[in-house]
Amino acid sequence: MSQFKGQARLPKFAVPKRYDVKLKPDLVACKFGGSVAIDLDIVADTRFIVLNAAELSVNAASASFTQPHSSKVFKPSKVDGFEEDGILVMEFEETLPIGLGVLDIGFEGILNDNMKGFYRSTYEHNGEKKNMAVTQFEPVDARRCFPCWDEPACKATFKITLEDVPSELVALSNMPVSEEKVNGPFKTVSYLETPIMSTYLVAIVVGLFDYVEDHTCDGVKVRVYCQVGKESQGKFALEVAVKTLELYTEYFGVHYPLPKLDMVAIPDFSAGAMENYGLVTYRETALLFDDQHSSASSKQNVTITVAHELAHQWFGNLVTMEWWTDLWLNEGFATWVSYLATESLFPEWKIWTQFLDESTEGLRLDGLEESHPIEVEINHAAEVDEIFDAISYTKGASVIRMLQNYLGAEPFQRSLAAYIKKHAYSNAKTEDLWAALEEGSGEPVNKLMNSWTQQKGYPVVSVEVKDQKLKFEQTQFLSSGSQGNGEWIVPITSCCGSYDVRKSFLLKTKSEVLDIKEFLGCSIAETESGSSCNKNNTVCSWIKINVDQAGFYRVKYDEKLAATLRNAIQNKYLSATDKFGILDDSYSLSMACQLSFASLLTLLAAYKEELDYTVLSNLISISRKLARIAADAVPKLLDLINQFFIGLLQYSAEKLGWQPKPGESHLDAMLRGEILTTLALFGHEPTINEASRRFHAYLDDRNMPLLPPDIRKAAYVAVMQRVTQSNRAGYDSLLRVYRESDQSEERNRVLGSLASCPDPDIILEVLNFLLTSEVRNQDAIFGLAVSSNGRETAWTWLKDNWVQISKTWGSGFLITQFVSAIVSPLASFEKVKEVEEFFKAHPNPAVTRTLKQSIERVQINTKWVQSVQGEKDLPKVLKELPSSKY
Ligand code: BES
Ligand code: ZN
Repeated sequence: MSQFKGQARLPKFAVPKRYDVKLKPDLVACKFGGSVAIDLDIVADTRFIVLNAAELSVNAASASFTQPHSSKVFKPSKVDGFEEDGILVMEFEETLPIGLGVLDIGFEGILNDNMKGFYRSTYEHNGEKKNMAVTQFEPVDARRCFPCWDEPACKATFKITLEDVPSELVALSNMPVSEEKVNGPFKTVSYLETPIMSTYLVAIVVGLFDYVEDHTCDGVKVRVYCQVGKESQGKFALEVAVKTLELYTEYFGVHYPLPKLDMVAIPDFSAGAMENYGLVTYRETALLFDDQHSSASSKQNVTITVAHELAHQWFGNLVTMEWWTDLWLNEGFATWVSYLATESLFPEWKIWTQFLDESTEGLRLDGLEESHPIEVEINHAAEVDEIFDAISYTKGASVIRMLQNYLGAEPFQRSLAAYIKKHAYSNAKTEDLWAALEEGSGEPVNKLMNSWTQQKGYPVVSVEVKDQKLKFEQTQFLSSGSQGNGEWIVPITSCCGSYDVRKSFLLKTKSEVLDIKEFLGCSIAETESGSSCNKNNTVCSWIKINVDQAGFYRVKYDEKLAATLRNAIQNKYLSATDKFGILDDSYSLSMACQLSFASLLTLLAAYKEELDYTVLSNLISISRKLARIAADAVPKLLDLINQFFIGLLQYSAEKLGWQPKPGESHLDAMLRGEILTTLALFGHEPTINEASRRFHAYLDDRNMPLLPPDIRKAAYVAVMQRVTQSNRAGYDSLLRVYRESDQSEERNRVLGSLASCPDPDIILEVLNFLLTSEVRNQDAIFGLAVSSNGRETAWTWLKDNWVQISKTWGSGFLITQFVSAIVSPLASFEKVKEVEEFFKAHPNPAVTRTLKQSIERVQINTKWVQSVQGEKDLPKVLKELPSSKY
C-alpha cells in the first residue's frame, strides 16, 4: 500500500463520475456523520482504490464496491488512511472489473475551528452565541468533508442531501433545493444535482440568515444572505452581482451556468471570499456595505471582490485549471476581469489606474530571487496554499493586461469567448489559453507569453539617449541588486513630448537601438544641457517608455532622460499611470542600490502638487517605507526627512481638509483618509491634535458627523501616536470602540491602528490581545501593522508564541502573513541569522517559501541601509530640497 504515499497526484485507475453525498451536521456537538456513494469508472485493472480523505474516521466495514446488474459485493480487505498525504487506500482481494460501479463509504468527522474543510463559525443571536456550519474546500480540503478524488481535473456531478438540519435554519448548497422534508424539529434538505464540476467548488452553509433577492435579465435568481437584521447591508453587493453577471454573460458569450447564485457573509473566514459554484462565500467586510457606516474603500473592496468571484463562475468553475500549476489561470484572470467589470460599473473610480497599485505587489515579490514562475511546479498538496500569492494574482493579472494591450481589446475578447466555449465543463492549461488567443489574433502568443509565465522574474529595461538614437538593454531586475540571467520578449512602447506620438516594438534580444531622428522632431537629443527645461529654452521634451505602465517591467533612464521626466512631472505633462510608473521604478531601483537615496528624494519633490489618488497613495506608501530605512540608516536625519515627507503632503492635505465636501468624489474620500493617516504617523502635530478632538467627540456620540468612516483610521492612528505605558487613555478608549462595535469593518480598523503606537510595551500588549478570544482568528493579521519601534518586540513575541500561533494558524495560508509581516521589516545581518536559526529549530512546512522570501527581504533592507549610510552628500541634498519646511 505504501507505493501510493508521497505522490503528487492520485493514481488514475478509477475515475469518479457522480457523487451522492449525505451529511448530518450536528451544530451543537460540532461533528458530522455522512455517507457517500460514488459512481466510478474503473479504467485499468486494479486491486486498489486510492482517493482522498483527511481527518475523517472512515467506517471500514461500510465500504463496498458494487456493479450495476450484479449482486456481487466487493468488500475491501484493508482500508488504510495516510494522513500526511490526505489519502485513503482500499485494497481488495480480487481485481476489480473494468467498467462502471459504485463505491459506498460511511464516515464521521468534526466541525473544526480551522476555517477549512467542513468547519464551525460562530455568531450571536439575541445575545446568545450560536454555531453555523460552513465549508471551505479550496485548495485541498474537500477531503476533510467526504472521501473524494480531490483534484481539479476529477470533475463529476454532485447530488447533495443534508439530514437532521434544525428546521429553523437556512441550509444552502451549490444548487437550488429539490426537496425539503420537515420532521418535527429537524428537516432533510435535498438539492438538485450539479453540473459536472471540481470538488474544490462544492459548498454547504447551514445557519441563521436573512436575505435580499433580485434577478438578472435572463432570470438567474441572485440572493445575498446576511446575519439576521443586517440584510440591508447586502443590497449594494446584490446590485453589483446582478450587473456583473449580465456583463460577464455578454463578455464571455456564455450564459451563467446555474439556475441561482447565492452569496453569503460568514463571520469566520480565512480568505477574503470563495467562488464556490452557485454559493459564493465571503468575509463580512468583503460583502456588506452600510451607507452610514462603511468607507469608500470598503465599497470598492466589495465591488472588486464580488466581480472577482463571479468571474470565476466562468473562468475557474466552468473551465477549470487542469492542475494547481495553472492556478494563475484562475486567479490572475479573475483579478484582471474584476477590474474590467469595476471600470464598467464605476468609471469614476479610475480603477485601471488603481490596478497599478496591485501590479506593484507582483513586481515587488517577483523582484526576489526566491520568487517562482507563474506556472509553478506543485509536488504535494501541502505546497498549494503558498502559491495564492502576488505572483499568481497580480503578476498573472498584469501579464494578461500586457497581452490584451498588445493584441487589442476586440480580438482578445473574441478569443476568450472561444476558449470558454471550447473548454466548458472541462479543464484547461495555460497553453490552451494561448492557443485560443493565437488563433483569434494571428499573433505568436505562445512564444511571446512563455517568457513571462515559465520563468520567474521580469526585466528592467535601461534606456540611453546618444547621437539621436535610443539604446534599450534588458537585464533581470532583482531588488537585491544582483544580476539575474532571465531574458524576455518585451513589448516596448514609447512616447516623446506628447501622447499623440508613439512608437512600439518587441524587444526580443538583450539590446536594441532605435533611431529617433524623425521620431517626432523631438528635441531631447539636441538640447545641450539635456537636463531640464530652462527659461531660455522653449523646447522642453521628454521620453516615457512603457506608456501607461501596460508592460510588466521596469525602466531605468539615463541621467538626461530622467531629468526631463522629472521636469515633465513637475509641469504636469504626464498621465497618472506614467507618473506612478516613474515613481515606483525609481523607488525599486533605489532599493536595489542602483539609484541614490538623495536622487530618489529629489524625484519625490517633483510630486509636491500631485492630486491623483493612485499616484499619491503610492507616494505615501513609499514615503513610509523610506522613513523606516532612514530611521535605521541615518537616525540623525530622520526628523528632517519626516518634515520633508510632511511637506510633500501639505498641498493635497490642504485641498482636501478634514471634512468631506458634499458630492465629492470617491477617490477624494479615500485619499483624505490615507493622507491624514500618514501625517499622523509622521508626527504632524496639527493633524494629531485635530484627530484627537474629533475622536473625543466620536467617543461621546458614535453618530455625530465629525468622524465619518473614511477618516476614522486616521483618527485612531493619531490617537495611538500619543499613547504610552503611563498615558493609556487613548488605547483604552479604542479598545472600548472595538468591543462596542458589531461591524467587522470598524473592528478591523481599530485592530489595524493599535500597533502603530511608538511605545514597544504597548505594542506587546496589542500583540497579546490578538491571541485572545476577543479577536477572531481571521482578523489577527490586521493587528500586525507594527511601528518601526515595535519591530524587535514583535519578532520576540512571534518566537515566544510560535507554538500557539503555529497551532492556530499553522496549516492554512494565514500563517504566511504572520511570518511575512513580522520578519520582512527587520534589517540587519544578525537578524537574518537569528531568523534562520529559529526556524531551523521550529520548522513549519506551510511557511517554507514565505520564510525564504522574508529573509531575502531582510537582506535587501540591510544592504539598502548600508548603502544610504554611505551617501555622504545626503544631509546637504536634504537641506536644499524644496518643501522641507512647514
Ligand atoms: N479562490 C480564492 C479564494 C482562496 C484563496 C481559496 C486562498 C483558497 C486559498 C478567491 O477567488 C479569491 O481569490 N479571493 C480573494 C479576493 C479577491 C478580491 C482577490 C481573497 O480571498 O483575497
Ligand atoms: Zn480568485
